[in-house]
Amino acid sequence: MTSTKSKQIKIETPNGRPMLGWVNKKPLEFVIGYPAQLTETFGDKKVLPVPEYSKLERNWYNLLFHGDNKEVLATLLEQGFRGKVDLIYIDPPFASNKDYMRKVELRGLKNLGKIEEDSESIIQQTMYEDIWKRDEYFQFMYERLILLKELLSETGSIYVHLDYHMTHYMRVLMDEVFGEDNFQNDIVWNYFMGASGNERWGRKHQNILFYSKGDKYQFNLDPVRVPYNPETIARAKRGEARYEVEAEELEKSGKNPGDVGSDINPVQGNALQKTNYATQKPEALLERIIRASTENNSLVLDCFVGSGTVCAVAQQEGRRWIGVDINKGAIQQTSNRLQKIIKTQQKKLIDGQISKTFGIYKINNYDLRILKTEAKELAIQQYGITRTKTETFFDGLRDSGELVEIIDFNHPLTLLDLQLIKDELGKRPDEDRDIVVICLGRDTRVDLWVEEWNKKQPHKDARSNKRMRQFVIFDLKDKNFVSYEPSKADVEIKRSGKDKVKVKIISFISPTIIKRLELEPGLLLKKIPDFRSMIDVVLVDTEYDSEVFKIGFSDVPEKQNDLVKGEYELETKEKPTKVAVKVIDMLGEEVLVTKEV
Ligand SMILES: C[S@@+](CC[C@H](N)C(=O)[O-])C[C@H]1O[C@@H](n2cnc3c(N)ncnc32)[C@H](O)[C@@H]1O
Repeated sequence: MTSTKSKQIKIETPNGRPMLGWVNKKPLEFVIGYPAQLTETFGDKKVLPVPEYSKLERNWYNLLFHGDNKEVLATLLEQGFRGKVDLIYIDPPFASNKDYMRKVELRGLKNLGKIEEDSESIIQQTMYEDIWKRDEYFQFMYERLILLKELLSETGSIYVHLDYHMTHYMRVLMDEVFGEDNFQNDIVWNYFMGASGNERWGRKHQNILFYSKGDKYQFNLDPVRVPYNPETIARAKRGEARYEVEAEELEKSGKNPGDVGSDINPVQGNALQKTNYATQKPEALLERIIRASTENNSLVLDCFVGSGTVCAVAQQEGRRWIGVDINKGAIQQTSNRLQKIIKTQQKKLIDGQISKTFGIYKINNYDLRILKTEAKELAIQQYGITRTKTETFFDGLRDSGELVEIIDFNHPLTLLDLQLIKDELGKRPDEDRDIVVICLGRDTRVDLWVEEWNKKQPHKDARSNKRMRQFVIFDLKDKNFVSYEPSKADVEIKRSGKDKVKVKIISFISPTIIKRLELEPGLLLKKIPDFRSMIDVVLVDTEYDSEVFKIGFSDVPEKQNDLVKGEYELETKEKPTKVAVKVIDMLGEEVLVTKEV
């Protein structure tokens, strides 16, 4: 189901001072609003195929978007959200030259006694690549900040979570986009975790830059007051210091927090909120920000949503929310987290204006992308490839010294791909390293092209007969290495009564997970004892319309160690209906099985 055709939206160029400069700085003159596609819903409310603000305003439900946030923000502008967002909190990748990993742990393996309680069963899934050059990062953030400003309401605020790598640059950039006068705080979140080392003072804080849209912004510290230091209270009790109120009053009211917070711990160990997301931020931190900078029913947006901390807190605090992430695993994680919270709210009969429905939309097709990263990751492990910061064109270097280019696995290697590499080499006349091209399948003309090319290259030096820039093709199809196999589920769906349906998962297999386990060095686990270990979530829609999956029932085990039940009896209508069962594995891949009953 698609909404409207893509359309250009004009964007105002910021002209604040001072300005940050970088190579290839480009203004953002317009963006394109791509069509949104509704893929899943949770809750009782009717969810619209297109999230139009004017319609949502009357009957709100929350929104989760899977896609690049530049495109999603453009779509939001197109759908009438300009000036409608009250609070933005973002925690973008830090450009700190490391890959952030999500730990993917299979379910229920700890109790089986098959493996030690350590990291053996943990599969590292690259969540996103954080290996950016600084200039690209600046352009990336510039564009997002400009779009975010357009979405922010006149009384709105934006908080940008950073650390020492980027804070100083981002402050200048935000001065340019939001105006120096709208800078409110550089909040220091001081935490106690990690070793300090002795080359310098221990790095124990992150920064949150807080800007308002204008000079009249929503802000109230009453709900976030913190206790006075016990010593202060004791002194007040002893009458040693004079306060305008009594010591008891002091104890009760607490004090306004300052811009340094040392009382909030990072998410650790087995905290309930923990989601195995490396960069997950604590709910307490977001609670403070959301309570101070919004009121009931305000609209909160996070377009780098990760494990969904902002949406989770907004939901708990009775605020409306929008979450965006480019990574499917993040969207799934956020969806699971919110489903749990909403179920608790339903049990406790928490009511009022809080919407207990959300819709998941997709902008562009990112499913393929995650497959590509997965496959690349496998190839990288298999062939001993190191990604380097200095290499801008190639995917990395092999331990044996060759440059490596990995062709996207959604298409076979073609002459066009080779031409692109050739163009790049044209810019590097002195390059004498060989080039390994990894691909999955290749055009029939490739071998001949390579042969010709290799013959034409100059000799490395006068004496050797070794030639420069020799191409070597590793076609994974030949090596029978990865042919991508989708996960498979065998699900029995049948009527078990007039208005009842029985759903049973007979078996489930994810070839990707199995391959990952085989590749993991030192992995003790050879066989997965229960196929349900591979399953993260089971969702059922008992009245599937063949377009939008409506989550009517969900089995999202509370703890990592619990398995999904795998067998359910659910209510459905008496008339014939289509039942759809979605099984999502621990890597975020889904299998949909449907049946008319
Ligand atoms: C540091 S994490 C956010 C963690 C989050 N605050 C939490 O508490 O879990 C950054 C997130 O930004 C996402 N991301 C990176 N680039 C993006 C883009 N262009 N569009 C949308 N999301 C993006 C990544 O997938 C990742 O989930």
